[in-house]
Amino acid sequence: MKGIILAGGKGTRLYPMTKVVSKQLLPIYDKPLIYYPLSMLLLAKIREILIISTPEDIDNYRTLLGDGSRLGVSFTYKVQETPRGLADAFILGEEFIGDDNVCLILGDNVFYGQNMSSILWKACERMTGATIFGYPVKDAHSFGVVEFDSDHKVVSIEEKPAQPKSNYAVPGLYFYDNRVVEIAKNVKPSARGEIEITAVNNEYLKLGELHVELLGRGIAWLDTGTPEGMLKAAEYVEAVQSRQGFYMSCIEEIAWRRGFITAEQLMALGQELKMTDYGQYLISLAEAAR
Ligand code: G1P
Repeated sequence: MKGIILAGGKGTRLYPMTKVVSKQLLPIYDKPLIYYPLSMLLLAKIREILIISTPEDIDNYRTLLGDGSRLGVSFTYKVQETPRGLADAFILGEEFIGDDNVCLILGDNVFYGQNMSSILWKACERMTGATIFGYPVKDAHSFGVVEFDSDHKVVSIEEKPAQPKSNYAVPGLYFYDNRVVEIAKNVKPSARGEIEITAVNNEYLKLGELHVELLGRGIAWLDTGTPEGMLKAAEYVEAVQSRQGFYMSCIEEIAWRRGFITAEQLMALGQELKMTDYGQYLISLAEAAR
């Protein structure tokens, strides 16, 4: 299973915040937004990861994350010249994906919850078809939305419907078999001119191979689409971290817990950041492992 993080877009909905800085590099409390989706791929034990961003921003991601060797994984980078839609990730990523299955996560999606690892593993283990998720939200109209029939069977996914047919939004976390590359190439642009991930999902639905897993209240999927959403997400992270002492979406910790790096390597990463609480946290983990 390969992983792709889509961190493109102009971020116009967050102007002027994102006028010169890519949205996914902005902080959610103490770490760049992209750390949160990246941590999901690492939790899923996905070690080959492609990061897609704009010509202006791609070098900043390279500076932030490097080639991945420090975390025992591999990061590669690809420029998306124009924002053509989410499904473009599979066209841009064709060579990277090769013969593998692929997980796509949007660079601004933040998840948290105790069952997250098992949810991710279950989706990775399914070798054919597609797995997406349904997450209950109060107002689903700005998302992909799952439509069910009276037997609770999924009948369609609608992109940003004015009148949502359910309150189950589709988060930006998707698992596909290798056919996704060909499917994406055949998607026709939508009214807003984008090749929509929702069109890809509806293709899998037509094939009878779309699995929609409904997530419950034990999982937090936080909105980062507005300044208010970003502030609330930051407050959530702060609350969890200061109460429990565990860091949320700490990529170095996950790399160590998954066995990608040793406690010595974790210690070295902590030492580099030792002037911050984040660095001290890494050091304390490495010390406890001795
Ligand atoms: C995209 C997708 C939408 C999905 C959402 C999740 O929308 O098109 O189906 O529900 O991500 O974050 P965007 O918010 O990028 O317009």
